[in-house]
Amino acid sequence: MNAPEKISANSEPHVMTTYGRLPMAMSYGRGCWVWDTDGKKYLDGLGGIAVNTLGHAHPKLVPALQEQIGRLIHTSNYYAAPLQEQLAAKLCELSGLTNAFFCNSGLEANEAALKIARKFGHDKGIDFPEVIVYEKAFHGRSIATLSATGNPKIHEGFGPLVQGFVRVPLNDVAAMEEVAQTHPNVVAVFLEVIQGEGGVNPAKAEYLQAVRRICDEHGWLLMLDEVQCGIGRTGKWFAHQWAGIQPDVMPLAKGLGSGVPVGAVVCGPKAAQVLKPGNHGTTFGGNQLAMRAGIETLRIMEEERVMENAAHTGAALLAALHRELAGVAGIVEIRGLGLMLGIELNRPCGELLGRAADAGLLISVTADRVVRLVPPLILSVTEAEQIVAILCPLIKELLAVPPHP
Ligand SMILES: Cc1ncc(COP(=O)(O)O)c(C=O)c1O
Repeated sequence: MNAPEKISANSEPHVMTTYGRLPMAMSYGRGCWVWDTDGKKYLDGLGGIAVNTLGHAHPKLVPALQEQIGRLIHTSNYYAAPLQEQLAAKLCELSGLTNAFFCNSGLEANEAALKIARKFGHDKGIDFPEVIVYEKAFHGRSIATLSATGNPKIHEGFGPLVQGFVRVPLNDVAAMEEVAQTHPNVVAVFLEVIQGEGGVNPAKAEYLQAVRRICDEHGWLLMLDEVQCGIGRTGKWFAHQWAGIQPDVMPLAKGLGSGVPVGAVVCGPKAAQVLKPGNHGTTFGGNQLAMRAGIETLRIMEEERVMENAAHTGAALLAALHRELAGVAGIVEIRGLGLMLGIELNRPCGELLGRAADAGLLISVTADRVVRLVPPLILSVTEAEQIVAILCPLIKELLAVPPHP
């Protein structure tokens, strides 16, 4: 295997410093394991932040993508797009929705959703449409999606923010009923079914059902950001399916291409015809390579029952975390669904990222205090036990030291 990633120790950095990075560089991966350029091996509890659905170098995905690259990567949206049709049809079959638009990332899918909401409002004669969004939400880093995001740290330095958002707390039906009474310009509700970056906070099934009802009563669009929790991660194709409801607009990305950038916004009949020719577009969106990655990801997931594995292994991982961390002082809550799990501690725990990597495990820490596990959905129960065996002693060690005052 070539290792072109080695950087000489004294070379000047030219990549902007938008990330605090750990020093290791990853070289190659197989299944749920990744090796760095020094040959050190890591168990992947991060999945590229909920992206690598099929793990690394999946033996069916690699040849399919190689074949596609040798045939066509990109030709633009000027021409008929049979691969887009194929992936859109599959997403509609899985979701019960009717049409999809393809883009390249989560924030782009959310931008499209927000444009649909605004145009939906304007089409109804509302000149200043408002969208209900959430405390602790995360929808992306563009100006509109960071404005919709409910984390003041992400807003800092980027004002003036985009207007037209009304913010409410999650799982509070009364707060939404109140907004319905006081804000006649609301056109849509926009939320993550499980808040990911906000700390793995699930919307309750009853809450989602109530929001669906309120949206129907007021003629609002229900827009569910499934960028992180969708594509089988929770053990259903889409996390909202646990609540037995359907959105009008569903942005997707992350896991859809198993690592190849693909975004989609999938719509039902109330929203699918809102954008007309010329209203929206993207150069790369829906190109042949991205579409093939989406099609093959979903095909392999079905063939190998990957979603069922996420449910099964996720339940085993959750049970093992409860078993190992039961009664440990400083554990606030262990929560989540399928292979989207969070362990909330009573203190900031960002240093666990480096300590886990040193111990051969990739994880993330989100909302300062929540250890998040979003591994590839092909994780085995044995690998889940290995995650627990590495991670839990590190958490206990951290919690054994009194917190900083
Ligand atoms: C729920 C949710 N929406 C949107 C995004 C933004 O996606 P991207 O980073 O692909 O723009 C993320 C990324 O973490 C996310 O978790």
